[in-house]
Amino acid sequence: MPNISTRTSGLGTENAFVVLKEVSDLTAKGRDIINFCIGQPDFNTPSNICDAAIKAMRDGKHGYTPSAGIPELREAIAAYISRTRGIEVEPDWVVVANGAKPFIGYTLLSVTDYGKGHEVLYPNPGFPIYSTQTLAHGAVPVPLHLLESRNFAFDVAEMESLITPNTRLMILCSPHNPTGGVLSRESLEEIAQVAQKHNLWIYSDEVYSRMVHDGKFESIASIPGMLERTIICDGASKTYAMTGWRLGYAVSEKLAPYFSTWMTNTDSCPNHMTQWAMVEALNGPQDDPERMMNIFKQRRDLIVDALNRLDGITCLSPGGAFYAWPNVTELCKMVGAADSEALRKKLLHEADIAVLSDIHFGERAPGKGQHLRFSYATSNENIMRAMDRLEDFIKTRRK
Ligand SMILES: Cc1ncc(COP(=O)(O)O)c(C=O)c1O
Repeated sequence: MPNISTRTSGLGTENAFVVLKEVSDLTAKGRDIINFCIGQPDFNTPSNICDAAIKAMRDGKHGYTPSAGIPELREAIAAYISRTRGIEVEPDWVVVANGAKPFIGYTLLSVTDYGKGHEVLYPNPGFPIYSTQTLAHGAVPVPLHLLESRNFAFDVAEMESLITPNTRLMILCSPHNPTGGVLSRESLEEIAQVAQKHNLWIYSDEVYSRMVHDGKFESIASIPGMLERTIICDGASKTYAMTGWRLGYAVSEKLAPYFSTWMTNTDSCPNHMTQWAMVEALNGPQDDPERMMNIFKQRRDLIVDALNRLDGITCLSPGGAFYAWPNVTELCKMVGAADSEALRKKLLHEADIAVLSDIHFGERAPGKGQHLRFSYATSNENIMRAMDRLEDFIKTRRK
């Protein structure tokens, strides 16, 4: 048998998919699992967006498009980003891809060299793809711990202490997956100062930008001097309930031509019909996404209140996205679970509640407690049924 490359045999993944497999196996056996694992809106894509895709299909929008995307969409994105971030962005700075995710890899490929020891700071806990892609592209991932005591921001002094002459890139995600934390303007300003001082690129993952529950969304790109060194990445998946359509985009004056060349080298172009759907998503009525965001906020309040009422659990109110990240350190002790992962398994097998544990989002920060992730992209009814089950589980399993 010929060999598999080391890079591929060692490639990490999103462990969430392993849990999803466990959940679907149990469901297939007839178990009524309430699922909080999935990071996607539980709504249908708004009908005006579906209609635009059908029209595109009927109008013969079937061929390849320019690798960076159709001009109509790049214009709509430039206008949207300029409007929502308070900056001036040109259509030429925009590249569209099949999801926001590919830009993590394209950015690493564009700003680090393979095997040269280039370092990438990334939030931990965080979206697992940041570190798996960093390793796959021969760079060095350097975790930056998010602290519950700082409402899941990191300590900027600690961040600066981790920077070396090899540091090329820092990844930010606000609102954050998995903690729901939102970086304040003040934090972003401090980070911006450090990024400028050490001449770093910033990858600003803004896929949850429309899901800020308290206050308003801030992009680091809007801080003076930051636009030129920031890669803004956003997309259709979360805002417009379009995860399976696959459409995302990045904005960077300097890197757009390189991203476009990467697109030519990989996918050729983004899906043609989906791009027309996205033009409608951005330029059409915004009532549906606004309705969805209001529902997420109500669910946030519902689940956070309910979790905080349970023994052994404390949960900060997440400022954005659709994730709650309760601290379950006490609960683990109460029910004899060695750690959050053991608790996750107990909840799945003994209480029919599916969640993810902190280890699915990177190595746990020593001494910073045990956490679970609940994605509250599910109905109020499911949330309340799960909270009843959790209460019952705690009562009956308490040692
Ligand atoms: C932080 C973060 N970035 C990027 C993505 C990928 O988004 P897309 O579906 O647009 O590829 C996700 C999806 O879960 C995410 O949570």
